Amino acid sequence: MKFLIVYGPTQEPIDPVRFISNYSTGVMGRFLVEAAKKRGHAVTAVECPARVRTARDLLRLLRNLVPKHDVFVMAAAVCDARPAKVASKKIKKEGFTRLALVRNPDILAGLARTKKKNQIFVGFALESEKVADRGMKKLKKKGLDLLLAQEVTGQVSPFGQRPVKAYLASGGGSVKSLGNVSKKRVAALLVREVERLFAAK
Ligand code: CTP
Repeated sequence: MKFLIVYGPTQEPIDPVRFISNYSTGVMGRFLVEAAKKRGHAVTAVECPARVRTARDLLRLLRNLVPKHDVFVMAAAVCDARPAKVASKKIKKEGFTRLALVRNPDILAGLARTKKKNQIFVGFALESEKVADRGMKKLKKKGLDLLLAQEVTGQVSPFGQRPVKAYLASGGGSVKSLGNVSKKRVAALLVREVERLFAAK
């Protein structure tokens, strides 16, 4: 199969020296790339922000790439909003007191509307409460085949190398608790699950 795996944090510039982003590290994405290659699949990897920085640039690139792949794994931590205006000169500290934001497009939900019958779309979700429930709702709302929901609270962090507390929701309506699990194991599980779904299509 041809996998498209997108991961890491997007960034939204404020001025030439500042940006908005999030704590994503891209670790899960790199394990996914490794796991898919190990199983013999062809992989196109898109790392944010190294290859693409902003949500809108990412959407433009993916509109072109997604139709060329069997599996689209969207693990990027997309900034949900961007500054309404990007200043071309550094904003002086006296003027740096307020930031007007506008919403970014939901890349995965938008692309899922163009999904072909034999394609598989995999999403991720971070939730602080009712993780399994909300994960399933997100999967349905975005029209996905699989979604990995991870818990994030003040005490539990999904960022970086540590194990995550995760649930796997599938389009068939089931949600499985994976417990505390390493990202390497999650990646291997996801690739196997994608293979199973693909074979059943
Ligand atoms: N996603 C996306 N475009 C966005 C926001 C999220 O494509 N603008 C994708 C992420 O890559 C992920 C999934 O949608 O696969 C869910 O992301 P998450 O941040 O958990 O949810 P949101 O849709 O942003 O909803 P909320 O922040 O309200 O929980």
